[in-house]
This record gives sequence, C-alpha cells and structure tokens, in this order.
Amino acid sequence: MGKTGVVSIHIGAEPGAIAETVLLPGDPLRAKFVAETMLDNPACYNEVRGMLGFTGLYRGGRVSVQGTGMGMPSHAIYVHELINDFGVKHLIRIGSCGGMQPGIKVRDVLLAQAASTDSNMNRVRFNGMDFAPTASFRLLDIARRVAESEGITVKIGNILSSDTFYGEDPQAWKLWARYGVLAVEMESAALYTLAARFGVEALTILTVSDDLVTGEAVGSEEREKTFTGMMKIALETAAAL
Ligand code: HPA
Repeated sequence: MGKTGVVSIHIGAEPGAIAETVLLPGDPLRAKFVAETMLDNPACYNEVRGMLGFTGLYRGGRVSVQGTGMGMPSHAIYVHELINDFGVKHLIRIGSCGGMQPGIKVRDVLLAQAASTDSNMNRVRFNGMDFAPTASFRLLDIARRVAESEGITVKIGNILSSDTFYGEDPQAWKLWARYGVLAVEMESAALYTLAARFGVEALTILTVSDDLVTGEAVGSEEREKTFTGMMKIALETAAAL
C-alpha cells in the first residue's frame, strides 16, 4: 500500500491498471512470458513479492496476466484482491497438472468443469459442509468452442485441487482417479469458490505436465514456456467476452 491511490495489500497497482479479464498462471515468470510474447504493449503493474502482473492488449482488447503462486491460500489472496479491489470480472487460470487417467497424456490440455478438493478451506468457509466448486459454464463453453476452432483437442471434466504436492501417501490420487477425476493441481477449488461468492466468472485451463499413471514428466523450462495451446485458448476466450 505504499503508493498514493493504491488500494490493495498484495497487489501494488493503481486503480484501473488491471483489465476486467485476467489470466492467472501460478508462476510469475509465466505471467511475464505470456505478457511479453502474446500481448501488445505489455506494462508491468505489480512486483510486490515478485508476483508479477502485466496488462496489455490482445486483439485490441485489454487483458491482464497475474501470477498467483502455488496452492489455494496464495491463489485465493490474489483472486480476492483482483475481484474486490480491482473490479476483475473474468478470471482464467492457466496452469499445469498431473494426469490421473490412462487416457490423459503429458501435454494434453484440459478444461476444468469442476474442482474437487482435499483442502479444508471450504469446510471452514461452509461450517463443515460441502460446496461444489464449478467453472462458469459460459467461459467453459466459449473455451471449448475456441479450442475446436483452433484445432486443439481438449478434455473436459472434474479435477482435484490438492493442498499437498508431496503428501504422506504417494498413492492417494488413486481414490480420486477411481471417481473419474482427470488430473490434480492446487488452486482451482479456491478460484471457483471465490468467483461464486463474488458473482464473477472463472475457468481453469490446464496442461498436463506430469503423468501420475506412467511417471512421465516435462521439464521446468517447458512448463514455463511451451504451453502455447493453453495460452492461445485462454487469450482467444478473453477476446470473445
Ligand atoms: N500435483 C499437484 N499439482 C501439480 C501436479 C501434481 O502432481 N503436477 C502439476 N501440478
């Protein structure tokens, strides 16, 4: 909150500096990469905690890209402030995930229709009861049609938002896999819950970076830079809003 007019605790941007549609990678360097390679006139609006955020133009429309960090507590802080302090209306997470089904392969692109979770965050929020975090159907439908017209195959279904990457039981994912859950990541249940709470639209688009069934994985540099299909779907969805 150092500068005059700055209204947010964790995002050091001036009012109006962030577009109504924001792409949300976990990795701030991926935010930088998307802004510098895919947006016109990108300007960095946030460097607080190194959680870079940029606003630029895509097909002439304003779009922002904001890193959120890994995991639901970090992700939820940025999403809360984007919505409540900066008036963001459309939030599109772009991230990586671990595939949990034999039919899901490394580099596949997924649209998360819903996000199951092992997190306690929603049990605290809902006094021990369950909430079903779901994507905005409008964004999901637009992204599906965009993918089809771009010739990018997407798989659509339930994902798991987990609180642990290195859990006690390395086989724990198999329980979720038995229920048809496609993949595991660490943010979307919080994103979908906050979008519902504040009446805005959210969607998660994921690229499979590792395959829990076979153990195959892509390297961290590829994770950061080469998920162009996912980025294209996200930006074309933003342009269609
Ligand atoms: N678990 C959680 N998040 C992930 C994974 C995983 O295996 N891979 C990519 N993001």
